[in-house]
Amino acid sequence: MATSNGAVAPTPQPQPPAAATKGPEPVSISEVRPNNSRENRTAAHSHIKGLGLRPDGTAAQDSHGFVGQTAAREACGVVVDLIRAKKMAGKAVLLAGGPGTGKTALALAVSQELGTKVPFCLMTGSEVYSAEVKKTEALMENFRRAIGLRVQEKKEVYEGEVVELTPEESENPLGAYGRTISHLVITLRSSRGTKKLRLDPSIYEAIQKERVRLGDVIYIEANTGAVKRVGRSDAFSTEFDLEAEEYVPVPKGDVHKKKDVVQDVTLHDLDVANARPQGGQDVMSMMGQLMKPRKTEITEKLRGEINKVVNKYIDQGVAELVPGVLFIDEVHMLDIECFTYLNRALESTISPIVILASNRGQTTIRGTNSPLDPSSGLISAHGIPPDLLPRLLIIPTNPYTPSEIRTIIQIRARLDPEALEALTAQGEKVSLRYALQLLAPAGILARARGSEGGVVSGGDVAEAVGLFMDAGRSAALIRERVGEFIS
Ligand SMILES: Nc1ncnc2c1ncn2[C@@H]1O[C@H](COP(=O)(O)OP(=O)(O)OP(=O)(O)O)[C@@H](O)[C@H]1O
Ligand SMILES: [Mg+2]
Repeated sequence: MATSNGAVAPTPQPQPPAAATKGPEPVSISEVRPNNSRENRTAAHSHIKGLGLRPDGTAAQDSHGFVGQTAAREACGVVVDLIRAKKMAGKAVLLAGGPGTGKTALALAVSQELGTKVPFCLMTGSEVYSAEVKKTEALMENFRRAIGLRVQEKKEVYEGEVVELTPEESENPLGAYGRTISHLVITLRSSRGTKKLRLDPSIYEAIQKERVRLGDVIYIEANTGAVKRVGRSDAFSTEFDLEAEEYVPVPKGDVHKKKDVVQDVTLHDLDVANARPQGGQDVMSMMGQLMKPRKTEITEKLRGEINKVVNKYIDQGVAELVPGVLFIDEVHMLDIECFTYLNRALESTISPIVILASNRGQTTIRGTNSPLDPSSGLISAHGIPPDLLPRLLIIPTNPYTPSEIRTIIQIRARLDPEALEALTAQGEKVSLRYALQLLAPAGILARARGSEGGVVSGGDVAEAVGLFMDAGRSAALIRERVGEFIS
């Protein structure tokens, strides 16, 4: 597409050539990172750094920000081991316990223990209800976010810093007005020397797509002609440039060599990349597009095609499946259709480990009661249908003792002893969650008072308790002043 203008230019400027026809696209920083942005969104759990297990798998009373709940942590440790050994695929675990007993925290700790190489997808049951996407579609998307693929290829490549980039022109053989490119001359420099390549004009397009300019480090695959921009040569690292630029050293070894390329992607990444196919069918070109995520429709047919390609690569030994974790918080928010779907998805050959969490006891399964008679419907433990329940490994979480509450509060803030006692009392009387929520306002009150180092005092806590009510007190107030509220 962009060849016509680029071709007649006598010497291509060391700027992105595509800009000549398409107009400069605004550089958005959000486009630079592929995915993985879903993880650290809960600041409430920022003190949790892992499960805090000893090498023998037993839980220390207080480690990695985790306090107490030892049995559940040890159980999660076993789950992590099973996931690492790839023995858990297609199984499901349920974290069951009252509100504020650390279920979400445990799941995040599991994700931290697994590291970044194992995909971890976090969703909440209510996320499936959207006006635009079908419920099962939303579930399917998250399932595929939780299945990774590690692609390992030995490739014959030409790699180096671009020191020359000249399209050679010729008269258009069809006699039309204008000229065409007959060859592209490109010179690459590595630590061992330089190599001049005369390339097919089709590669020129690939080079324009990657926006390669002089001074970039690129590699060109010998047999497919795919071009990948690695980054900007660090010889230019002092030049005035965008912050998003990644500087890389000039490649070692010869320009022409065999290179091991390993990449971790999720099936969802591949779906998205291929929803607007450009380029060839090989894995690298599927991945080349990962940098530009756009919301487009992913059809069942497309997923089928991708599964086929993935299976082919797995058979050839080029790729390896990495089943990750799909965590569904507040699982009682799913309805009976979703549960049926979940059952089926767990049985498919490629399935992640599913971790569910719920704080409900006996409740109605969503979607089983008729709208005319809300009291009808199927009642089941945790709001999970009886055909899914027996397949789950259930890990219970227990309420905390006062001393555990004290330790958890202590991890999160700088308090004087009086404040700690006051908060612990709130944690016991109301809930751990309420006590933790008081921390932020109390901290602000302390700073407003000019407290040195922002240390919270008993008075600050008392003031925060006065300003912000807990659920129980609020309910009591409603009962007391019935007339003032609309009901
Ligand atoms: N054992 C623990 N050690 C340290 N912090 C904890 C522990 N358990 C819970 N917390 C913290 O207490 C708060 C409440 O826990 P969390 O959100 O995990 O509860 P939950 O079981 O998911 O509750 P809900 O059922 O309401 O979702 C969080 O800030 C969490 O990080
Ligand atoms: Mg939770």
